[in-house]
Amino acid sequence: MAPIAQRARGTQDLLPADQPYWEAMEGAAKERALRFGYQRIETPIFEATELFVRGAGEGSDIVAKEMYRFTDRGNRSLTLRPEGTAPIVRAYFDAGLDQEPQPARLYYMGPYFRYDRPQAGRFRQLHQFGIEAIGDGSPVLDVEAIVLGWSWFAALDITGVTLQLNSIGDEVCRPAYRELLREYYRPHLANLSEESRKRFERNPLRLFDSKDPQDEPLKRNAPRIVDHLCGPCAEAFRAVKEGLAAEEIPFELNPELVRGLDYYTRTVFEYQHESLGGAQNSLGGGGRYDGLAAALGYRSTPGVGFAMGMDRTAIVLKQHKPLTPPVPDIYAVALEAADELYVFHLASTLRARGLRVIFDPGPARLDAKLRKAARRGARLALLVGPEEREKSQVVIRDMGSKTQTSVAEREMLSTVSQLLGAG
Ligand code: HAM
Repeated sequence: MAPIAQRARGTQDLLPADQPYWEAMEGAAKERALRFGYQRIETPIFEATELFVRGAGEGSDIVAKEMYRFTDRGNRSLTLRPEGTAPIVRAYFDAGLDQEPQPARLYYMGPYFRYDRPQAGRFRQLHQFGIEAIGDGSPVLDVEAIVLGWSWFAALDITGVTLQLNSIGDEVCRPAYRELLREYYRPHLANLSEESRKRFERNPLRLFDSKDPQDEPLKRNAPRIVDHLCGPCAEAFRAVKEGLAAEEIPFELNPELVRGLDYYTRTVFEYQHESLGGAQNSLGGGGRYDGLAAALGYRSTPGVGFAMGMDRTAIVLKQHKPLTPPVPDIYAVALEAADELYVFHLASTLRARGLRVIFDPGPARLDAKLRKAARRGARLALLVGPEEREKSQVVIRDMGSKTQTSVAEREMLSTVSQLLGAG
């Protein structure tokens, strides 16, 4: 009979061999978040569809074509979360975090869902590590977010990350700029790609996201938002650049960086990596979203944050440094079925001392058992056959030097500690 089903398209199994990379990312995330005073928060995997429609915006690709949306048995429209920022702003108000000392500094890690065409580095179930600082509009918090993200890559020994930076203004200066951009493009509409013509109507800033060579010449000469920022936006952008320079974080000003979510204001940034190549080169990104809370119907509240793509970071991490799963200290083997429970009990005694012990069940030849022990990377093997059992002895084999000794059972612990300590 054929297996029931295959893994759903765009999903992946994170196997034991993958876990060291994920644990390294999670460990570095926790450690760095803690250093900067960010506390963990986790929101539900699904939320009211309306939250994402209002958050990411009708015009965003996420809402227009990527949501995993369904109706539950109570006829509610729900969506598997495509991103974390809108849910966290919702939780911030729901839980009254807005009443506590500000800013609330929060971090999170988990799965997100986007229905996009799968390709290298692009999944339908993706995973993010993100942070949000909500309740304070200081540009120094933009700097803090960027520095924290940068230090996460450093903690993982990932080199070759470039930081792209831009400001996309706010509701004071952006409407006028948007019109300027439309005026610039209007006489050339016939020369634009179809996708760009749609963007011209819906959200002209996204014209900068076009990868179509046809749009390239016009894009290059288009007016730049950074030349049209209002006073406060220009001042904030100056402070962010100055802060990054003082922290010695290298950045590239990219006036074409606009990001795919509608909630951003002022600072936007992306961490990119050369080795990912092509369209999926963004390891993470974020920015300020001072209009998001109000768009969700809450009191106007500033915020800034980022999300890192853990699936893509895992790809880069694997290229940078091979990591292996933790190895057991001891591989415990009974040579005869009758001695299995006895060996299992010896293993328990060793585990009670904090050692990592794998019990090997079932009959097999000794050399086959030792091959299994070597394959798991065990440092020692504990062997018990009828002869040892009779004399209350055990054999301890050093898997590295391939030497072994018979010791009395009551000396097992001290011998094991000695051998492990020596290695
Ligand atoms: P985003 O740029 O949509 O931002 O996603 C952040 C990162 O998630 C991307 O840079 C990428 O590494 C990863 N990512 C996104 N989609 C996929 C996918 N289909 N497959 C694999 N990786 C993917 C946000 O989600 C914002 N919530 C970030 C933020 C937080 N802004 C402010 N605070």
